[in-house]
Amino acid sequence: MGGVVGFFDSGVGGLSVWQAFVRLAPTVPTLYVADQAHVPYGPRPPGEIRRLAEGVVRFLRAQGAEVIVLASHTISAAALWPLREAFPEIPFVGIEPAVKPAVAHTRTGVIGVLGTYGTLNGPLMARVVERFAQGLRVIPQVCAGWVEQVEAGLLEGPEAEAGVRRHLEPVLRAGADVLVLACTHYTFLAPLIRRLAGPEVTLVDPAPAVARRAAEVLGASAGEGTPCHRFFTTGDAARFQEQLRRLIGWEGPVEALRWTRQEGLLALIPAGVDNS
Ligand code: DGL
Repeated sequence: MGGVVGFFDSGVGGLSVWQAFVRLAPTVPTLYVADQAHVPYGPRPPGEIRRLAEGVVRFLRAQGAEVIVLASHTISAAALWPLREAFPEIPFVGIEPAVKPAVAHTRTGVIGVLGTYGTLNGPLMARVVERFAQGLRVIPQVCAGWVEQVEAGLLEGPEAEAGVRRHLEPVLRAGADVLVLACTHYTFLAPLIRRLAGPEVTLVDPAPAVARRAAEVLGASAGEGTPCHRFFTTGDAARFQEQLRRLIGWEGPVEALRWTRQEGLLALIPAGVDNS
């Protein structure tokens, strides 16, 4: 049974994967970094996401992570392959848009893929559509504003509903009967999406499958004892603590980090440390 698993996202989205993982492997210690100083990642150029991701990976490794889960489609699309090359000693688990499982569910032959600009316009998306969805109609829908909505805790209510409806309606009008959640933040909007889309539409959420893959890579099995979970943010620690409480019922402490440069590279250090 392996050691520590590091999770990384721009914000709270990856908590959906973290939560699925902890259910599967409740005794494995974890680290979670939310780069909330830069959320959303979706509209950022892949090169910038790669540099930030490398900084987070160096930090997670220094904290003892043995397996790193890119709990984000956007980060996986921009950085999974370059990270594997840059850190060949670390096993990475990434996420691709779950088009493959969606194919099994569609009766209309129309699949909506809901994600960020970076995910839907990257090579990973093109590859999964080509491999798994030949002959079907795949509609990539950039859901601008949903990440910010989840970060703000707007999961229900008239404002949340208007934001979700705006991007959902065109896809449903086009006849999609399967919707792929291709952004980990959207898992937290799933109850609202499900209600607005109706019972005829299937939602595909990749979080459980990614969690299973991470447990497999780690060789995790049910062990004894209470594990230690540490949560870090480059944003506001009190706000992140409140988000953890509301989204996953976590009541523990949060550690604040800030970005700096070390030997020309982006690096994360505890927010209280002055190395200027
Ligand atoms: N939750 C992430 C994803 O799965 C990142 C979204 C963002 O920061 O734009 O794509």
